[in-house]
Amino acid sequence: MSDSRGNAQLFTSDNAFDQIYPQGIQQLSKRHWTPLQIATAAAAFLAHKPGSRVLDIGSGVGKFCLIGAYFHPESYFYGIEQREELYLYARQAKEVLKVENADFISGNFTRFNADQYDGFYFYNSFFEHLKPEDGIDQQINYSANLYDYYSRYMQEIMDQRVSGTRLVTYYSMGDEVPDSYQLVDASDDMLLRMWIKR
Ligand SMILES: C[S@@+](CC[C@H](N)C(=O)[O-])C[C@H]1O[C@@H](n2cnc3c(N)ncnc32)[C@H](O)[C@@H]1O
Repeated sequence: MSDSRGNAQLFTSDNAFDQIYPQGIQQLSKRHWTPLQIATAAAAFLAHKPGSRVLDIGSGVGKFCLIGAYFHPESYFYGIEQREELYLYARQAKEVLKVENADFISGNFTRFNADQYDGFYFYNSFFEHLKPEDGIDQQINYSANLYDYYSRYMQEIMDQRVSGTRLVTYYSMGDEVPDSYQLVDASDDMLLRMWIKR
């Protein structure tokens, strides 16, 4: 039986990695799941010390968490996902990859205690409420009010975190980032942004 290191080839490109998912999930990858290079850069910032505990808010099929966990075996990556089906795909992918330091939770992030984490990843999870035609599916009720509610809720949670908490946003419009966070790094196109709480 091989451990996660036997899967090194899967972590060389998005096409290779996405093979672990069914066809329908692979087709959603370009628009909805974090690209390998972005996940690698975000995870390196969040897993900055051994034992770091990172939460992906809206973890989809687990791509960010599984890549982060593979490259940072000394840290822990957790994902919370509202769509039960995607959560189940994330769990299956974890089994296939034999990555021990990643785990997934099924549910809405508003029902979840964020106290135990010192880093957060956010790939514009609420945006589908503003553009339902580009959404993952038609299984949830889309509404601009929910975008505002979730963004404000996340902003409050982030504001309550201790100084030094790390946050990475990808494709975010910034609505969920409180003023108490300082931008410390960003990609050239500013789509990937790294923040630390003052
Ligand atoms: C753009 S995808 C990103 C998936 C994953 N983070 C990645 O990078 O591959 C956003 C995900 O957030 C989930 N999501 C949106 N709102 C949520 C909420 N309120 N609670 C939990 N998950 C949510 C969606 O179902 C979707 O799977």
